[in-house]
Amino acid sequence: MYNSRLDGLTEYPFQRLNALLAGTSPRVPTDQQIAMSIGEPQHAPPEMIRDLLVGDLSAWGKYPPTPGNANFRAAAAAWLTKRYALPANMIDGEKHVMPVSGTREALFMAAQLCVPPDKNGAQPTVLMPNPFYQVYFGAAVMAGAEPVFVPATRETGFQPDYATVDPRHLARAAMAYICTPANPQGTVASVARLKQMIALAREHDFVVISDECYSEIYDGAPPAGALEACAALGGDLKNVLVFNSLSKRSSVPGLRSGFVAGDADLIAKLNKLRSHGGAVQPIPVLDTAAALWRDEAHVEANRALYRAKFDDAAQIFGKQFEFYRPGGGFFLWLNVGDGERAATALWREAGVKVLPGGYLARPDAAGINPGAPYIRVALVHDRARTADALQRMRQVLETL
Ligand SMILES: Cc1ncc(COP(=O)(O)O)c(C=O)c1O
Repeated sequence: MYNSRLDGLTEYPFQRLNALLAGTSPRVPTDQQIAMSIGEPQHAPPEMIRDLLVGDLSAWGKYPPTPGNANFRAAAAAWLTKRYALPANMIDGEKHVMPVSGTREALFMAAQLCVPPDKNGAQPTVLMPNPFYQVYFGAAVMAGAEPVFVPATRETGFQPDYATVDPRHLARAAMAYICTPANPQGTVASVARLKQMIALAREHDFVVISDECYSEIYDGAPPAGALEACAALGGDLKNVLVFNSLSKRSSVPGLRSGFVAGDADLIAKLNKLRSHGGAVQPIPVLDTAAALWRDEAHVEANRALYRAKFDDAAQIFGKQFEFYRPGGGFFLWLNVGDGERAATALWREAGVKVLPGGYLARPDAAGINPGAPYIRVALVHDRARTADALQRMRQVLETL
């Protein structure tokens, strides 16, 4: 006996990559082999967390409360207010913020929160960009919704345009994911696009799930966010939840610390849901996270490291493979014609592991997988290793 909705889930991209490369041995020595397939930051975590995490031992002897503590909620609210220049009274940590154990589990749980048994008498839909972060699909399927894939291709500016969705799908929509800056393409949704999406969500009564975990890794202007769009629409947070995390901003994916912020009614309901089945954050983790949200110096240093690596990548690739500097995040999204073929050749000839873009997307109505021509390359290692790997990559890709 098990939940047969599980059968609707596909294998996770990294398992598919392992299967693809199973019979391939790199022709370069082990010390030159490098995994650029996974978006796990390899920059050193900020020194300040060393003492913070062990500070008050007695806190480990307590069950932490589901909504976290006031210190964390206040730090997240203050950060959001400053970062997005929101009106001072718009975000109240006590009403609008919920800590989560990294945003992955929260993005998954969002579907349990927002997808009703039916909408207007029919199966609800969950709208998502295509390509997309794979958790969105699993969340929709396990909540009993029909996933609807909305193109996020070069033609649409690598962001989905939900205004183009079939009205029959919109009428059944329970929620819509947006990822900005996007994984994998790094493109940023403008305030105008976010405003349009929020207006659409309010018109059709679905929830905007704005995944903003790459918001602090940027090259030029700070990426916009959905709360900024709410402010521009008058300050109401109705139908909007944003998700952010320290994993990329502070290079601490192992801390498992993020938050959800937005619609007070949905946050209260999320609190109820999480008190039944959510992973609570230990109090020392909450306090450490609060200190990290209050500090920008380590984030600026982190951003500078990524910027330098994009400088190197721009030098190495020029205009080849449709290279562009993304508005945010730390991925290259290169058009190499056939992502699987390129990934196999790169592993064999250069010892570089990258992810075929097709593993992050689904075929469209015409059977075309919009990610298939691409590879995703995570610039998460140090600058010298990254530049060396990118040089070797270019040499191999030029021969394909
Ligand atoms: C687009 C996107 N959203 C969410 C996450 C989850 O991050 P975390 O659970 O570490 O907050 C990731 C992690 O790679 C991601 O790429």
